[in-house]
Amino acid sequence: MIAYFCSRNFIFYMSKRTFTMIKPDATGKGYTGAILDQIIQAGFSIKAMKWTKLTVEQAGLFYDIHRERPFFGELVEFMSSGPIVAAILEKENAVADFRKLIGATNPANAEEGTIRKRFAASVGENAVHGSDSDENAVIEGDFFFSKLERF
Ligand code: RTP
Ligand code: MG
Repeated sequence: MIAYFCSRNFIFYMSKRTFTMIKPDATGKGYTGAILDQIIQAGFSIKAMKWTKLTVEQAGLFYDIHRERPFFGELVEFMSSGPIVAAILEKENAVADFRKLIGATNPANAEEGTIRKRFAASVGENAVHGSDSDENAVIEGDFFFSKLERF
């Protein structure tokens, strides 16, 4: 975390890290290597990574913020349906740049060349997760990785 100071003593923070998951649709279709390659080619470096599988309960905890949404049941069922790759990524302006790299939640609306446009089939099964804020990037990284597992 880097602190930036401006002339009126206003302090704000910009993190260099974000968190991602390659979701079960993409691992199942054999896209893991191609997606990781696109992430690395875009300038992100991997600070932690694991291949794992979530239980329904763990997927529900991870996406707890969406618990009241109509798609929550489908989301946790899908996210626990197969293996995922979890990773902490580093780059300047990591959260915003990674959201740009993955594209819109619905791949039909994602820009050409984005990861979701290239590898996702639908709004529910959309290949990758990307943190939506610096604060959530820290929370989500801590969900998967101990201090010994990140470098
Ligand atoms: P993510 O958290 O996975 O990076 O996705 P996101 O920010 O682009 O979208 P978000 O609103 O956080 O939604 C989380 C995930 O829920 C599924 N979803 N399904 N059926 C639907 O209308 C719907 N809407 C969202 C997607 O898997 C989405 O990525
Ligand atoms: Mg989200």
